[in-house]
Amino acid sequence: MTVKKAQPYINGEWISQERETISIRSPYSGEVIGEQVLATTSDVENALASAYAAKKEIAKIPAYERAKILKRAAALLEQEKERFAQLISLELGKPLKNTLDEVSRSIETLELSGEEAKRLMGETLPGDASERGTKAIAATFRVPVGVVAAVTPFNAPLNLVCHKVGPAFAAGNSVILKPAPQTALIATELLRLLLEAGLPESAVNVVLGGVEIGQQIVKDDRINVISFTGGVVAARNICELANMKKVLLELGGNAATIVHEDADLKRAATMCARTGFSNSGQSCISVQRIYVHQAVVPAFTERLKEEVLKLKIGDPLLPDTDVGTLVDTSAAKRIMEWINESVNLGATLICGGKQHGATVEPTILLNPPKNSKVVCQEVFGPIVSIIPYESIEEAIEETNDSSFGLQAGLFTNQMDLAYKVAHSLEVGGVVINGTSNFRLDHWPYGGVKNSGIGREGPRYAIEDMTETKMIVLQLPINE
Ligand code: SIN
Repeated sequence: MTVKKAQPYINGEWISQERETISIRSPYSGEVIGEQVLATTSDVENALASAYAAKKEIAKIPAYERAKILKRAAALLEQEKERFAQLISLELGKPLKNTLDEVSRSIETLELSGEEAKRLMGETLPGDASERGTKAIAATFRVPVGVVAAVTPFNAPLNLVCHKVGPAFAAGNSVILKPAPQTALIATELLRLLLEAGLPESAVNVVLGGVEIGQQIVKDDRINVISFTGGVVAARNICELANMKKVLLELGGNAATIVHEDADLKRAATMCARTGFSNSGQSCISVQRIYVHQAVVPAFTERLKEEVLKLKIGDPLLPDTDVGTLVDTSAAKRIMEWINESVNLGATLICGGKQHGATVEPTILLNPPKNSKVVCQEVFGPIVSIIPYESIEEAIEETNDSSFGLQAGLFTNQMDLAYKVAHSLEVGGVVINGTSNFRLDHWPYGGVKNSGIGREGPRYAIEDMTETKMIVLQLPINE
């Protein structure tokens, strides 16, 4: 296997000379698969200067050109689908089934961004709604903010980069990207593809490194918008450093799915098994808390266990693997500690609960207490908890009793109940007859409370990555 290299890309150049490098290991095999060149403080300064200097040039590229580049990138990615999927599986331990899906979604995200580039519309506003405006009209335009800082996570390392770079460029901004250190290879591979598609060299700068690099970027006043996906602690730190910049945050959750007594239990169990353990639960909307009506708890638990035991654990690069590794062994260790804590506090372990290297077996817990970490914090791992409830009001209350509010799911066949629950849940999105873990890339995606600020999805991200500019015409007419 050839060792791959992830390098910073600054001011149109790949940087590799005399820099600290670190090895990149496959979380599954432990083998060295690549190396990452870390950016220095002065590299970051150069990247900021380059992004700032480029913003006027990028803003001048007409929308049809920006659209063409993004669509060409989508077409190239289609041709390279297998290679990109394999690279994510290798670098992250995410099963090929999931990474093929992620690449397909990334293609859509780039296409959608290209389409939205052509829809940056404003409106005309007659002035005569005011007595003082009878001889004036205004028109609004969407104009780029300038420089967007994109800080992306490891769990969907291709699509979540596309969700930031795509809309930012579609809107006419230059970008400085800091991808997660664990998935630098895939991020830089995407940049190569974007450049091949015709992205101007100065449109995106990429810096690689840890927290200090991120902090240097977010506090810099040449940045206009920060778009961050990650955890709450880092998000708070960003907000403190951002000093009045616009900050878009797509953060975590401890997503709930409610299974009511009239639900199709087979469907609910199958979908909870599939969407609670894909990518080993490392998704902000992964099914974590399953509130199940007490009348169907035994039947649902049995069916869920049956489905979960069918999941194939193993090498992420094999096409039939359902559950690969976590991002690294320390994540697996933390997950095990959380399982043990909940069992010590009284939860019943239904299945799973074992660690093999960076892999944790899909784990079902029954009735963990409310104060256990697996209930009240974000697990980001392959654990789902079944929690019985008596009334739907109780299920709503328990779901909302969280510092997070990203998405929720509900299984019921009663339309009126579904409507009531959907309107009562304090989350960014509710999926009826599905789990919390369902997202289409053109939909608005984001949360309330500690789950974030703003919405992803190219159309919605572009709104936040542009300003409204108004041009007023005062008519020189006397009557
Ligand atoms: C996330 O973890 O927020 C990404 C989920 C997704 O795009 O499916």
